[in-house]
Amino acid sequence: MRVITLDTVGSTNSYVASRAGSLGHGDIVMAVEQTAGRGQRGNSWEAEPGLNLTLSMLLRPSGVEAACQFDISRAVALGTARMLQSLLPEKKVLIKWPNDIYVDDRKIAGILIENTLTGRLIERSIAGIGININQTRFLSDAPNPVSVAQLTGLTYTLPPLAERLGQEILAALGLPAEKLRVEYDSLLWRRDGYHPYRDNLLHTDIEARITAIGPMGHLTLTTVSGESRTYAFKEVTALL
Ligand code: BTN
Repeated sequence: MRVITLDTVGSTNSYVASRAGSLGHGDIVMAVEQTAGRGQRGNSWEAEPGLNLTLSMLLRPSGVEAACQFDISRAVALGTARMLQSLLPEKKVLIKWPNDIYVDDRKIAGILIENTLTGRLIERSIAGIGININQTRFLSDAPNPVSVAQLTGLTYTLPPLAERLGQEILAALGLPAEKLRVEYDSLLWRRDGYHPYRDNLLHTDIEARITAIGPMGHLTLTTVSGESRTYAFKEVTALL
């Protein structure tokens, strides 16, 4: 695992995609500044230059079926949550399905995974991770950001954190699938109880609890009246 630091780049995910041939499994490219950081759902990713972790890790998982690609997402989320948990021993760091990292009801890290498939197998996966570390003011319209520094009052040196993050992700990727799924489920935000969600297919708001996360990463919610529905990413939104 190598950690390469760039001063300024558009997006570390795009950079790694364009240099994938010269990078190996586990290599990390981190940027002091991203000028076009990309988030999920076509959003941009806000990070004040030099203050946060903005990095992408190249993964070449051997023999992982495309049908199991959510296991990569699980491992990256689990590794990120574990790294953050070590910085925040007083807090509970949780995973908001599918792969946001939350502390209480606030987002501390986001993950953007881009897979390249060859036939039925994943040839490579680029795991882009943005973690709010030292930033204390957020200007974008992201609804609920929080940083490690806001929670602890401390300031952090970034490169050692990138190393730790990489090691945690590689360790999570090495877990047997069943153990990985159990560990991921155990850290789910809103694991218990009924909470408000918006069903983006039916355009209705519901109160529901999580009853399953399928092997492919689909989320099953069950309403108070006992009705269950299974959603892919973007088909449902957790309301705060
Ligand atoms: C999200 O919207 O929650 C995902 C955010 C992912 C941001 C990271 S920062 C490093 C990497 N490069 C990008 O352009 N995006 C990811």
